This record gives sequence, C-alpha cells and structure tokens, in this order.
Amino acid sequence: MLQPPAVLAATVRPLPAPSAAEREEEIVRAGFNPFKIDARKVSVDLLSDSGTGALSSAQQAAAQQADESYAGGASWYRFHDSVRDLVPYRNILPVHQGRAAERVLFGALLGPGKISVSNTHFDTTRANAEMVGAEARDLPCAAGIDVDGDEPFKGDIDLDALERTLSGPDGHRVGLVLLTITNNGLGGQPVSLANIAAAGEIARRHGVPFFLDAARFAENAWLITRREPGYADWSPREVARREFELADGCLISLKKDGLGHAGGVLAMRDDALADRCKPLVIAGEGYLTYGGMSGRDLEVVAQGLREVTDPGHLAGRERDAALLAELAHQAGVRTVRPSGMHAIYLDAGRLLAHLPPERFPGHALACELYRRGGIRAAELGSLYLGELDEQLRLRTPAPFELVRLAIPRRSYDETHLRYVGAVLDDIAKEPEQVPGYRLTHAPPLLRHFECRLEYA
Ligand code: F0G
Repeated sequence: MLQPPAVLAATVRPLPAPSAAEREEEIVRAGFNPFKIDARKVSVDLLSDSGTGALSSAQQAAAQQADESYAGGASWYRFHDSVRDLVPYRNILPVHQGRAAERVLFGALLGPGKISVSNTHFDTTRANAEMVGAEARDLPCAAGIDVDGDEPFKGDIDLDALERTLSGPDGHRVGLVLLTITNNGLGGQPVSLANIAAAGEIARRHGVPFFLDAARFAENAWLITRREPGYADWSPREVARREFELADGCLISLKKDGLGHAGGVLAMRDDALADRCKPLVIAGEGYLTYGGMSGRDLEVVAQGLREVTDPGHLAGRERDAALLAELAHQAGVRTVRPSGMHAIYLDAGRLLAHLPPERFPGHALACELYRRGGIRAAELGSLYLGELDEQLRLRTPAPFELVRLAIPRRSYDETHLRYVGAVLDDIAKEPEQVPGYRLTHAPPLLRHFECRLEYA
C-alpha cells in the first residue's frame, strides 16, 4: 500500500559545510574524539538520536502554555497524565534525563555486592550500576552477538542464562532484572513481547524487581507489530502498553521516544520502593512534580508521548533506517542485520580488515566519515568496550567493531541519508587508505567520552 509522507518540515536551518582542511584541523584539535568536535563544524550529525529531534508544531504550541510553578504546576499534571496513558504504574517520578532515573533506581535497589542483570546495559546504565558498587551483567541471546543473522528479535535476553543466574549461587545478589528495549548497546535490536513476558515471569518467581529501560519503547513496539506473530493487527500504542504491563516498572529517557530535548521518568508499581526513590529524586533532581525538567520540557514531552506512537512516524523511522542500511550495502559496507529503527550499525571490522582491533577499526571508520564528509558518528567496538593495559594498549578486544549511525527523529530526510551513502561509498572504494589510531589518554570510566587518540 502506498504510504504518503508523515510530516512537512516547517522550520529549516542551514547546515555547516566545512572544507576538508577545516575538518582535518578540527578533528586533530578534538584529539580524534567525535564527542569533542564542535557541532558548528559538522554537516550531518549522526552521533546520537537523543534530544536531537525536531519538535512538532503541536509541541511548540504546548510549550507556550508551560506552567513553571515550583510544585504542582499544570504542566506537571499534563505530563503525569500523558505518561499514565502509557504505563500502568501508580508512581511516576520525573527526572531530568534517563541516566538520572538510573542513578535514583540503582541508589534504592543496588549497592556493593549486588548485581543488575540485563540483555545489555547501555553505557551510562552500566556506569551508574558500577558507581554504587554493583556489577552490571549482560546476558544477550546468542543471536544478538551474531552480526549477520537475520533473526527478528536479536535484542532478547538469554532466558536460560537468566534462569541459571537467578537460581545459581549468585542469585541472592541480583537486585534487578532490566530489559533494554530496543537493545541500543547491541545493534539497536528489538525485544519480543514473548521475551519480555518470560523474563518477567522468571524475575517474579525469584522475587527480583523487573524493569524496562524503555528509551525506545515505541520503536520496539512498532517492530513487534511488524515481526512478532500475533501482533500485526495491534496498534503500536497497544503494544507499548502491553510492554509496560509486563514489567514492575520502567525508566525512560524522554529524549528518545518522548520526542523531547530533555527529560526522563522513573515509574513503578511498588509504593515502598517509590518511597525509597523519592528522597533521591528530591535531593538530586528536583521536587517530585518537575524532577529537573522545566514546565516547558514537561509540556513538550507530554505532547511527544502522544505523537510518538503514530504509525506514520514509526513507519518513517523504519524506512529511514532501512534506506541507510541499503545505501551502506550498495557501497559494500555490511551492517548489523536486520536494520532496526533509531540507528544502523556499520561493520567496520570487516570493511577495514587491514586494521587489527588494537588500531581501533570502528573508531577509524567513525573518524573517516568526519574527515571525508563532515559526518559525525560514534564507535561501538574495542575503543568503547575493549580492555586496556596500563600503557593504554588493547588487551582484550570487543566481540565486534561497529560504528553507530544514529538517526535523529524528524530532522534529516532522504537527501541527507543519500549523502551519507555517497561518503561511505567513497571510503569503501579504498578502505586500505583509512588510517588506524592509538590512545594517548583514557580515563578509567566512560572512556570514549573523554579519551584522546593519534594516528598509528
Ligand atoms: N538507556 C538507553 C538504552 C539509552 O540509549 C540512553 C541514552 C540512556 C539509557 C540514558 O538516557 O541520555 O537521557 O541520560 N542514549 C543516548 C544514545 C545518549 O546516544 O544512545 P539519557
């Protein structure tokens, strides 16, 4: 069936077009770290889909009615009702973004000796677990680690491993089971409703709280309607509600499927747990009716949560990711299959076979996208996940060398994606020309944000 476009771009902004010499100067200045590049020197920014999307006219209008009262403002009630329309939990705690919800929840549930079990912890999620002294243990399903497999739900948690962990000698130390939907750390792959239900059943049987890290709950829901037998006739909103019903609570970065520029929420059924979280919200985020968000943010997100389950929006996201993957394939660059929604993940290890993991092929491809085309992206490979020795040399590589091209919501169109495809094509014609890198500085925690590198 022919599907007309879902939106009209009503506001435009010119994009920077730095010359090759300016880009080279900038990436050297940035210590070859994409996070350090000045966005005014980036032409197409695929670093993150977080808080980088365009607002709808209805969101702009909602922002105009913001009530900035310190407590109990009208914007809070509109936010609360919009969240409650999706989640069946009584306790709704606002926070300024997703990682703040992690810090609050882990502060209440985890601690030294405790374990958080997940399909894959996102980087800040892992850091927040480790910062309260807990261990973050990933149990991805076997299909999830196979870059080329076409299984529909490669984001699933390994249910046998989960059962073994909870009934094994470490079982009593597990403080939380957390399913990340979609699984951002592992190719942006979706998690099936069957897997959410089964993981929840196992966690409940062992008396462990079961939460969703639901930053991309709507995109996960859309892929369920497309890929999981029995849900083709459900609306994405019905599936999203079902996702939440199956869990005891959720944390959501509203910078993704909240379609906001800031914001997050932590929600749960358990009143006693909520009572333990509330002081952490008040002390670290703000009072319980704003949690670090302005009234404007509360309004924007309240409206965003209504818009995000629109099938036209979600179908467009799926098409954009599929087109970008197709353009990469045409250029001869493999991607994690099947393509998801918020990003595609390039297999840099294969493309840059002349670079061993210790010269960071994923990072090399990310830098090359900027050097050749002013495109910004981030590595997900040995720079991010590998183990280093004292001299900052790679001791244990990551299982894959990927580059994530994240697609901001409602911002870029086919022209931008085709430009990215053309730059990839240019790189893939002579991959052996792409230089490798060595680390010159790397902090022990969250290394990829602050590290510096040089050509090697
Ligand atoms: N969980 C997941 C799955 C995420 O992808 C993110 C953020 C967070 C939690 C933390 O949320 O940024 O609002 O504090 N992901 C962004 C990204 C940064 O680029 O993937 P936050």
